[in-house]
Amino acid sequence: MPQDTLRGIFSLAGAAPSNSNAQPWRVEVVGGARRDRLADALRTAHAERRVTADYPYSEDMYTPVHQERRAAFGADLYGALGIGPEDHTARAAYDAESLGFYGAPHAAFLFVTGDGGPRLAADAGAYLQTLLLAMTAYGVASCPQGLLSFYSDAVRDQLGVDEGKLLVGISFGYADENAPVNRVVTGRAALEATTTFHI
Ligand SMILES: Cc1cc2nc3c(=O)[nH]c(=O)nc-3n(C[C@H](O)[C@H](O)[C@H](O)COP(=O)(O)O)c2cc1C
Repeated sequence: MPQDTLRGIFSLAGAAPSNSNAQPWRVEVVGGARRDRLADALRTAHAERRVTADYPYSEDMYTPVHQERRAAFGADLYGALGIGPEDHTARAAYDAESLGFYGAPHAAFLFVTGDGGPRLAADAGAYLQTLLLAMTAYGVASCPQGLLSFYSDAVRDQLGVDEGKLLVGISFGYADENAPVNRVVTGRAALEATTTFHI
């Protein structure tokens, strides 16, 4: 991807709003040999179960409604990939493969600086969405991946980062429109399920 495109995308992303304009984020962008080394380090950490998530993950954080939506999404995704509901081996292999950024030439790692608490993470969430939209504006496809944040020590080590908590990684490049995964169409909850108008 041309340098100008990269600089254009990340300049736009930096226009994201944040509380009192503190901009509590730090972004590391990789490509080329560095990207390849990092993918290897992530796969190794995953294989050795060296999870170092700066933001702990638990299935308990989801309500039953969330779980229903997740299950429906998983059925659509793995269905499109031809992976059966009980084929845990194939699902695990797909997850491990995703640590190679789904074959994308670039990845970005979004760190929350300051205390990395939920308020500042919300600012970084605004940055994340602005980044995804900036990529779309440039015709670049992306996949935010929480899984990439499970191995924050590997990312810190490979990129020499000594500040911030790793919130999410984003793989990006030009989409392979023929890939089965790109035929998955995700829905959204009905407006009434998420929004109340007190007017
Ligand atoms: C914070 C965040 C974390 C995500 N983590 C992953 C991930 O680890 N692996 C993955 O393949 N997709 C991941 N996704 C992509 C979501 O599954 C996807 O955005 C969602 O299913 C809606 O689909 P859509 O973006 O195609 O509309 C993540 C998305 C977000 C916003």
